[in-house]
Amino acid sequence: VEPAESFTPVAKRILCLPGSLRRHSWNRALLRAASSAAPAGFELTTYDDLAAVPMFDQDREDLPTPSLDQLRSAVAEADGLLISTPEYNHSFPGVLKNAVDWLSRGPHSTLIAKPVAIMGATTGTWGTRLAQAALRQVLTATEARVLPSPTVFVAHAEKSFDADGRLCDPQVAAALSRFMIAFGDWISHWSRLPGLVVQG
Ligand SMILES: Cc1cc2nc3c(=O)[nH]c(=O)nc-3n(C[C@H](O)[C@H](O)[C@H](O)COP(=O)(O)O)c2cc1C
Repeated sequence: VEPAESFTPVAKRILCLPGSLRRHSWNRALLRAASSAAPAGFELTTYDDLAAVPMFDQDREDLPTPSLDQLRSAVAEADGLLISTPEYNHSFPGVLKNAVDWLSRGPHSTLIAKPVAIMGATTGTWGTRLAQAALRQVLTATEARVLPSPTVFVAHAEKSFDADGRLCDPQVAAALSRFMIAFGDWISHWSRLPGLVVQG
C-alpha cells in the first residue's frame, strides 16, 4: 500500500461549455463562479462559440469544418468538461445537443471516457433538473463519464447573481466548491483507470 503522502495532485485542465448563446447568460455567469470556486491547480478555459458550429448533417461529416475542429481539439486537450446548461422546454438547448452530436462522431469521439460534470441555472423554480437529466441521458450514449453527485441546480438565477453577473448567493457558492472538489476527484479516479475504455 502506497503511503498517502506519495499521491501528487496534478493540474486539471477543465473546458467550460455554456449551453446558452445569450450574452448575459446566467449559465456563463455560473461557469465564471465555478472558476473562482475551483481548488488550486485547476485551469478553466471556456469554449464560447457554439453559435459557429453548423447544424449537424451526416452528409457533411467528412467535409472540413474549422469551428468543429477547434471544439474537438479543445475537448480532447481537456482533462474534464464542465457544462452549464439552461433548461428549454424541460430539456437542454438544441445548440448543446448539436455540439454533443458532432462530438460523438468521428474516428475517435473525444467524449469517450471523458470526465464530464453538469450543472445549470434557470430563472425557473426547479433549477434545470429536467435539462440536466436529459443531458445526462444523452451523454451516457456517448460513453462520457458523467459525475453522479453532488449536483448544482440554480433556481431563480436572477436572485443568485448581482447586476454584474457575480455570484452573490453563499449557498450556491458552497455547493459550487463541493462540486468542483468532487469533479477533481472524479477526474483523478478515472485517470488511475485508463484501461477501462469499452466501445460498443
Ligand atoms: C425557449 C425557452 C424555454 C424555456 N423553458 C424553460 C423550462 O422548461 N424550465 C425552466 O426552468 N426554464 C425555462 N426557460 C427559462 C430559461 O431557463 C432561462 O431563461 C435561463 O436563464 C436561460 O439560460 P441563460 O440565462 O444561461 O441564457 C426557458 C427559456 C426559453 C427561452
